[in-house]
Amino acid sequence: MLQPDLTYQLLRNLTSPVVAVTSERQGKKNGMISDAALRASIVPSIPRLSVYIHKFNFSHDMIFETGRFGLHLLHTKQFDVVRRLGFFSGRDQDKLAGIPHHNGKTGVPVLDECFAHFECSVANVMDTGSSTLFLGDVVAVGCGSAAGLEPRGELLTATYFRSNMPAEWRMEYEAKLGEAQQVAAELSRNIKPVVWKRS
Ligand SMILES: Cc1cc2nc3c(=O)[nH]c(=O)nc-3n(C[C@H](O)[C@H](O)[C@H](O)COP(=O)(O)O)c2cc1C
Repeated sequence: MLQPDLTYQLLRNLTSPVVAVTSERQGKKNGMISDAALRASIVPSIPRLSVYIHKFNFSHDMIFETGRFGLHLLHTKQFDVVRRLGFFSGRDQDKLAGIPHHNGKTGVPVLDECFAHFECSVANVMDTGSSTLFLGDVVAVGCGSAAGLEPRGELLTATYFRSNMPAEWRMEYEAKLGEAQQVAAELSRNIKPVVWKRS
């Protein structure tokens, strides 16, 4: 017998580090937070990653329509970036306005400060009903604006974020998660086959 809440707590052991996912469409830039990103290739010459993004997030359609995204591993001094990108939608505001960034090689925003970043071209997608799992070919890599590929700071894991976020953020975080879970519950069983066309 499944016990949904306990099962979900166990599944939280499968969350990824906290990542900032950026996108750009017709000059409009955006960023969001995910803790569902994975290395998706063991072949060094074919570097790939995947990330799971809900359809109701503004970033989703920007990525789906452009076939490009930036994915940043963050460090433990970047809680403010997690709140700014992960607690509000880019539909209502320019979330990147206060976060130093530059245009990456593919045109997606690259945060100047991060543990490491990857620019990706979408290679395939999988529909989950409520979200899309994007498979990205890594086409550029770096550590923000730093020269070289030396990661900066200590990697921000999801567990570290959940355990150490300021107490006054927690209610807001839990409320947003609850809302997202409700919407996702309505959509999750409606999985459609999607054929990804490379641009
Ligand atoms: C720690 C954390 C983890 C998150 N993980 C995900 C995730 O895996 N997938 C997702 O779609 N949204 C996730 N979110 C929520 C989005 O970042 C959030 O809904 C954001 O406001 C979307 O912004 P947008 O509408 O500008 O795209 C997470 C948020 C936080 C704070």
